[in-house]
Amino acid sequence: MNAPHPVPSRLAAAEAEAHRLDADDPGHRHLFLVPPADGGRYAEAAYLAGNSLGLQPRATRDELLADLDAWGHLGVEGHLEAERPWLPYHEMLTAPAARLVGALPAETVVMNSLTVNLHLLMVSFYRPQGRRTRIVIEDSAFPSDSYAVRSQARFHGLDPDSTVVRLRPRPGEDTLRTSDVCDFLAAEGDTVALVLLGGVNYLTGELMDIPAITAAGRAAGAVVGWDLAHAAGNVPLSLHDWDVDFAAWCSYKYLNSGPGALAGVFVHERHVGDPGLPRFEGWWSTEAATRFEMTPTSRPPATVEAWQISNPPIFAMGPVRTSLELFDRVGMPALRERSVRLTGYLERLLDEVTADRPLTVVTPRDPRRRGCQLSVRIGVGSANELTKRLRHEHGVIADAREPDIVRFAPVPLYSTYHDCWRVADALAATVEAAS
Ligand SMILES: Cc1ncc(COP(=O)(O)O)c(C=O)c1O
Repeated sequence: MNAPHPVPSRLAAAEAEAHRLDADDPGHRHLFLVPPADGGRYAEAAYLAGNSLGLQPRATRDELLADLDAWGHLGVEGHLEAERPWLPYHEMLTAPAARLVGALPAETVVMNSLTVNLHLLMVSFYRPQGRRTRIVIEDSAFPSDSYAVRSQARFHGLDPDSTVVRLRPRPGEDTLRTSDVCDFLAAEGDTVALVLLGGVNYLTGELMDIPAITAAGRAAGAVVGWDLAHAAGNVPLSLHDWDVDFAAWCSYKYLNSGPGALAGVFVHERHVGDPGLPRFEGWWSTEAATRFEMTPTSRPPATVEAWQISNPPIFAMGPVRTSLELFDRVGMPALRERSVRLTGYLERLLDEVTADRPLTVVTPRDPRRRGCQLSVRIGVGSANELTKRLRHEHGVIADAREPDIVRFAPVPLYSTYHDCWRVADALAATVEAAS
């Protein structure tokens, strides 16, 4: 352990306040395994990287072992006879996943991984025709999305450079304005086949106005899909009521289902069952009731399950099921309220630290325009180096996005006010005040 470092007096006094706030607003940290600190004065890490990989719920191991035991005891008979039979296992995830994103069960399924799902959805929903060929993303889209849409353009014989439109913030601004996105769609929407944006931007933490942009895209005649990797489990969503065409999200960030965990898919009710939509199929795309009649042609159900292809990996579904049960138990409205309090508290401390240092919070200040993540631009030095020092000298785990962004996500399920205080304290000790 390193020796205690001198802390600025204002922040030192704030530590007691952080403990008081934790006593009043404790969250659910006891339900999670928190990694030990790898440096600094405290035993546990201050884990602020749930926007990258969420922590492991304590319940996950036993639930997973129970599924594994069923295989050991039953072999192939587990498909029907396991306590949680494998054939309909994925159905246990559908209702809680649908509740989480504000969807109908017929619109929601858990399967595959995120980028794979985006491709499967674009098979159905990116259908360039005539002059309507373009795909709109944000310039700071996660690279996987950028590669995915560019490869879709190439797949259709189109030039990705002219087909993919990258929306940029105004000069001197860090985040996109909803009105600029809507104005673009009103002006040029007749050339747009697909709008595919991140619900919460991975880099800046900006929460887009999903209903407004969806309405603008659809009014322009485009299909509107959302990558909700940073939104699912972070902010309340009402995908059905917002008329979103399709969406996909991963489960390893705010849904705490483990590295590379299975992902979620939403297809709006108006599209499920549409025989005109192209789709890739396998034996899990056909209706469950007649699947084992082994016919040469499929009978897809009029639900999003028609987008499934393979039989699902049960041991990967277990952690998602366990996590979704937690979200059901605690409830997204309560989590969002705690999230606004916790992130507001971190913002207040960061304001004190950044005031005289080369650090800028680039996430919108309005809580309605962000989830729990705050992104800090580092004016001097490397973001990677800074996160290493935070971790090894202070036990604060955050993540860096080169060249100059460090992301901090106080996750309402398990983060504490004291974690937030440790971030501010560690930044103050690590980044020299500007002279
Ligand atoms: C916004 C976003 N989209 C896509 C991905 C890629 O996800 P996957 O590797 O699960 O396909 C990520 C991964 O972090 C992401 O943050």
